[in-house]
Amino acid sequence: MIVGRRQNMLEKASKDLSRAHLATKLHIFAASIVDEAAISAVFQKIRQCIAEPDVLVTSAAYFPSSTNVLETPMQQMWASFETNVKGNLHLVQEFLNASRPSSVSPTNQSPKRDKIILDVSSAATHVFVRKSGVYSASKLAFTRILATAQDESSSLSQYFNLRIHSFHPGIVLTQIGRDNGHNVDTMPWDDVQLPGQFAVWLASPEAEFLEGRFVWANWDVDELLDGEERILKENLLKSGLVGKAEWAIALRRNTSKLSLCSLG
Ligand SMILES: NC(=O)c1ccc[n+]([C@@H]2O[C@H](COP(=O)([O-])OP(=O)(O)OC[C@H]3O[C@@H](n4cnc5c(N)ncnc54)[C@H](OP(=O)(O)O)[C@@H]3O)[C@@H](O)[C@H]2O)c1
Repeated sequence: MIVGRRQNMLEKASKDLSRAHLATKLHIFAASIVDEAAISAVFQKIRQCIAEPDVLVTSAAYFPSSTNVLETPMQQMWASFETNVKGNLHLVQEFLNASRPSSVSPTNQSPKRDKIILDVSSAATHVFVRKSGVYSASKLAFTRILATAQDESSSLSQYFNLRIHSFHPGIVLTQIGRDNGHNVDTMPWDDVQLPGQFAVWLASPEAEFLEGRFVWANWDVDELLDGEERILKENLLKSGLVGKAEWAIALRRNTSKLSLCSLG
């Protein structure tokens, strides 16, 4: 199933994919992810006419124009958060049917389903990219929300096993790049097959240990598999504050002394 706003692009994508994957049946739905009623209707149709969805890929994004943060027009700032955070979060809620969990009650699901979310995030969530402050912040906000959702997922474990992965898809020349003056020669572009193939691997049981973590499609899968023990033991590939501030350690050791100092 593919959701997007432009019917003609959906039809083209469906035709191209059907030609490349003859056994796959594709369904397309024209809707904007910021239109809550339309997205709810899409999921209702999917459940009624096709099947309960198992994997959700959140990829739609709004790209504000490339400016310093303080010069970003407010309309573009808000549109970034509306699509990249609110729209994608609503997709997730509909996919999990979290507000109506009884409709996916354990009685009609035996054994428990796996529900997998692949968040097409961006390196810009943790790598400083000039003139991309609002885009970066909106992508980071959604990725952070999903990391929290993974952490809280035990509250839904009676209904399904939830697995969430956030990943940087590489640098791929798409329409947004062309609109910003790029062409095949301006960057060392990655092949579009990279994020596609990587996403398929992430959804496989082999990548289960990476749930709730952030990875790059450019990384070597065999190296990731070799690093499983260390990644889990040292709780790597999660966002946080890097480094150890002395005052923070002191704060943990002696909170009362510190608050007395600051009062004084
Ligand atoms: N390309 C890169 O190098 C790169 C790097 C890092 C991260 N990413 C991430 O990769 C994802 C895809 O980016 P892209 O480069 O492929 O961008 P893109 O070429 O602009 O494609 C975005 C897609 O999202 C759909 N979309 C946008 N707003 C929508 C909405 N409100 N409702 C429904 N569909 C909507 C668009 O279709 P319609 O316009 O027809 O709706 C389009 O198919 C994004 O999340 C981006 O942050 C890309």
